[in-house]
Amino acid sequence: MTIQQQNTYIADAKSRRASNRIGCLHHHAFMVKDMEETRHFYEDILGLPLIGTWVERLNPVTNQPDNYVHTFFELADGSCLAFFQFKSEQSSMSQSVNQFENINPFAHHIALTVEGKDTVLEFKRKLQEHGVESFETDHGYCYSIYFHDPSGLQVELTTSVPETDELMRDAGQTAHETLALWMQEDDLATNNTARGAGWQQ
Ligand SMILES: [Fe+2]
Repeated sequence: MTIQQQNTYIADAKSRRASNRIGCLHHHAFMVKDMEETRHFYEDILGLPLIGTWVERLNPVTNQPDNYVHTFFELADGSCLAFFQFKSEQSSMSQSVNQFENINPFAHHIALTVEGKDTVLEFKRKLQEHGVESFETDHGYCYSIYFHDPSGLQVELTTSVPETDELMRDAGQTAHETLALWMQEDDLATNNTARGAGWQQ
């Protein structure tokens, strides 16, 4: 991809996004089993500041008294990761999607951006120092690590790579066609050849 092609891709992407009436992520919310343990994980280890703590005494779903706390941890663009914990362990358990077990990444995960592969690996080391194991995946169009938070939420930290714009431009040109084809076929063989060697079959 030449510089000129890259500039065209970036300009096209900006104009596509400008006409989208739904903006950036406001927050992603998740139930946790221990809010202080959660705060330590997201604020002290990952560096996301706690910017809001709301305490509620009425459960708006059941319309019954039910004391819970709702916290917001801020990302670089102002969007947030939000969490809930109820005083009643029963309420927390019954409303948790995962019963606080580690989630399979295909079932649910949240991916957050960082700048550069070195930063991804820096976080991997920092997590390891705190006893949190993570695994790396080279997706071709981005490079990621995956790990679980203390309540089992699968978190991904990912960075764009030099090939990202070109790969996304090409994928964008065939996105609907590829989807339609996959829906029709039992075993569509279009492996992502951009993936790292560990993923080639
Ligand atoms: Fe992902």
